[in-house]
Amino acid sequence: MHLHTRLLFVSSVWAFLGCNQADPLVTCDPNPAVVTTATLQTQVFNACRTCHNQNDTYADLSAPEKSQAMVDKASTFSKGVAGSELKLVKPKDLANSSLWLKLNGGTSAKLAGPKMEMLGGIMPPTGALSATDLKAVKDWICGGAKAN
Ligand code: HEC
Repeated sequence: MHLHTRLLFVSSVWAFLGCNQADPLVTCDPNPAVVTTATLQTQVFNACRTCHNQNDTYADLSAPEKSQAMVDKASTFSKGVAGSELKLVKPKDLANSSLWLKLNGGTSAKLAGPKMEMLGGIMPPTGALSATDLKAVKDWICGGAKAN
């Protein structure tokens, strides 16, 4: 390949990647507010327990230490995609956190994981959380998904 053509090709790939990374939905604020798992348990996760308890295949959200176990745990719903890094919660990585993508609508909002992992429908199934609750979840993930 002629050098000039090759440089152009490389820079257009860069532009494409840069574009993806700038997607505000999956971009962390540089200084997220401090939100802990304990806070989110009361604010958000307690309302998920009717389905997400110790009997659930996907995620147990029945207590702070259970919800904390989402961190770095592989997504069950979309497992089996080659090269997938999708977790229930991947600290500081919204695009690879199925929790975040599903709270924002999942497949019903035409969202997919970075490796085109299927996400299933919105959580909670009754409809989106408030903007305040969504921001709290985002800040928690972006701050490293810390217990307290
Ligand atoms: C009425 C029952 C119900 C409620 C309430 C509910 N969920 Fe779910 N959830 C499900 C089902 C069923 C699945 C698996 C199928 C799917 O993903 O669509 C699921 C899947 C998930 C997953 C994906 C797990 C994976 O393997 O990637 C996450 C994360 C999740 N729910 C979070 C929540 C959160 C957070 C709440 C509360 C704000 C919530 N859910 C409320 C039924 C529920």
